[in-house]
Amino acid sequence: MADNEWTTFNASGNLRVVVTKELPGDRWLKILEQAGCRVEYSTTTRILQVDEIKAAIGDRCDGVIGQLTEDWGQPLFAALKAAGGKAYSNYAVGFNNVDVDAATQNGIPVGNTPGVLTETTAEMAIALTFSAARRVVEADEYMRRGRYEGWLPTLFLGQLLNRKTVGVVGAGRIGATYARMMVEGFKMNFVYYDPYPNERLEDYIRDYAAFLEGHGEEPVNVTRADSVEQVLREADVVSLHPLLDPTTHHLMNEERLNLMKPDAILVNASRGPVIDENALVAHCRKHPDFRVGLDVFEDEPEMKPGLNELNNVVIVPHIASATSWTREGMATLAAGNVAGVLRGLPAWADQDDILPFLGDDAPDACPSIVNAEELGLPVAG
Ligand code: DGY
Repeated sequence: MADNEWTTFNASGNLRVVVTKELPGDRWLKILEQAGCRVEYSTTTRILQVDEIKAAIGDRCDGVIGQLTEDWGQPLFAALKAAGGKAYSNYAVGFNNVDVDAATQNGIPVGNTPGVLTETTAEMAIALTFSAARRVVEADEYMRRGRYEGWLPTLFLGQLLNRKTVGVVGAGRIGATYARMMVEGFKMNFVYYDPYPNERLEDYIRDYAAFLEGHGEEPVNVTRADSVEQVLREADVVSLHPLLDPTTHHLMNEERLNLMKPDAILVNASRGPVIDENALVAHCRKHPDFRVGLDVFEDEPEMKPGLNELNNVVIVPHIASATSWTREGMATLAAGNVAGVLRGLPAWADQDDILPFLGDDAPDACPSIVNAEELGLPVAG
């Protein structure tokens, strides 16, 4: 990579931290500066390949902040260890691009950025849901092409979601937040599949149902399904929020797509390979009333052939967490992880409560280290 694609901040810092993309805001730089780091960050918009990252690590590097687009496996963790590296943080909550076992074997703590993107990502899943249900992109294009000749009773008929059933696969932080927004906002019944029950979410929805009844309205209901299949059969809208691992790769395949209602809506703001995208293209061609909202793709940044020609699919370029507040917060957390490890701070215990790290008096801890236990790191908070 050309030298002019790298910028150095705090050149006199004693510790060397490599950051593979420029991050938003400047708080992250200050956090690293205060920890005595010289920061070298890449200003390219290209996805860096393993060899380029290895070259950037060089023979002396104390820590790295990397991206979800990069393959952080044994070759990179071995290179980081050989360069004296002690810390890595992904600039993302998801870390399916990271071989955590390899990092642990090399003694390197792996950070991520939970919490700060929960609502932001759920809001984008909602935006995709309604863009698909109400055909917003198709209608926008129609206007721009000057095709609107006047109001018509049948122009762009879509789906009313109020009082229908919303389904979620994976009711963790983001899935549960999406569910609450849909249930509360549109009085929808809720069905979810998750290997672990989300009792807090269930209680919340039951309390909301009681609230509706107290106001003389029909209550909503909540069902924890026995299988993904049950969610697909029952729901009018299904939003996917599982972690990507071998058990969820191509979770949505031809067979499962066929279980969904022919005019259902499918949303994915988790990871692309959760859907067999070729099967999805075929399904959408066969069922023009089936609608889809996608933030993520199987082979990002590519799309499978035919996807971009489908009117019943809304596609955006992996921007579900893209608000300034969130992306700056992610930078703060990622920098806090690397700086915290380099300063010898403990790992924060409660990864559902990382907001104190965004305030002025951040705790003396690393906000989120996913292999803290495996590495036997001390824990605080
Ligand atoms: C993440 O953090 O995992 C998201 O995909 C970024 O939007």
